[in-house]
Amino acid sequence: MRRFEDRVAFITGAAHGIGRATAQRLAREGASVVVSDIEADAADKVASALAGDGSRALALCCDVARPDQVEAAIAAAVDRFGRLDVLVNNVGVATDTAFEDLGEEEWQRQVDPTLGGAVRCIQAALPHLLAAPGGGAVVSVGSINALAAFGNEAYSAAKAGLVSLTQNLAMRYARRGVRFNLVAPGTVRTRIWERRLAKDPSVLERMTSLYPLGRIGEPEDIAAAIAFLASSDAAWVTGTVLRVDGGVLAGHTGFLREVFE
Ligand SMILES: NC(=O)c1ccc[n+]([C@@H]2O[C@H](COP(=O)([O-])OP(=O)(O)OC[C@H]3O[C@@H](n4cnc5c(N)ncnc54)[C@H](O)[C@@H]3O)[C@@H](O)[C@H]2O)c1
Repeated sequence: MRRFEDRVAFITGAAHGIGRATAQRLAREGASVVVSDIEADAADKVASALAGDGSRALALCCDVARPDQVEAAIAAAVDRFGRLDVLVNNVGVATDTAFEDLGEEEWQRQVDPTLGGAVRCIQAALPHLLAAPGGGAVVSVGSINALAAFGNEAYSAAKAGLVSLTQNLAMRYARRGVRFNLVAPGTVRTRIWERRLAKDPSVLERMTSLYPLGRIGEPEDIAAAIAFLASSDAAWVTGTVLRVDGGVLAGHTGFLREVFE
């Protein structure tokens, strides 16, 4: 499939995990990809590997919590590739701080990049997405944490905010050719689990048993869904929340064995 031939995609947090897998997927399907991340060296590595495969890729250092950096990165992307068709808002910041200890600063540290970062990127990208010849597409990476209670209140509230943002902007721009959708992943094997694994080496194995499809997700599972929503295959899809969660939210996992096995 080469659904992104001649298209340009800007991905935030693209140096690792789900963002990197998305950059690889869109590049494989013909996109010119902007690998933006707060970690410049890691972004460079991802972009160089894509370019080595014959894709057009640009690494940009961009902290989505910094309005000046977001503006500059979107401008640099358009300057380099001449257009912007797809924005993937992938950055999300979660910490393990208990709710009682969640001070003002810690709240901002999670909510600002996760929700504010998406707003900033959308505002900077919008004029270019509105001008995209085949229509523009924004895909935000949410979480099942926005749809049910899994703890991590600041992060989860920010992800829930992304759902509302997606639905409202989908309506606001529906007649102007920009679609807004959100992917809500369940547990995905990325480095964000490293901290938990260091304390609790069997955490992901235990998680596996909670997933009806019998495994946790891989970054490529989420990238495939993002690619669908960003592509013209989803031309009649806007304002949607696509759960990519191994089935976990479809049932009460505590009852899974009791009832279905
Ligand atoms: N891994 C999971 O289990 C899981 C589950 C649900 C949702 N998600 C969401 O998926 C998205 C990607 O997470 P991941 O698991 O791939 O994590 P990851 O740590 O592998 O990748 C996140 C990337 O974002 C970058 N980043 C962090 N802060 C940034 C900032 N302020 N500006 C720019 N870049 C920044 C990091 O450098 C990193 O490259 C996040 O929004 C996360 O909330 C992950």
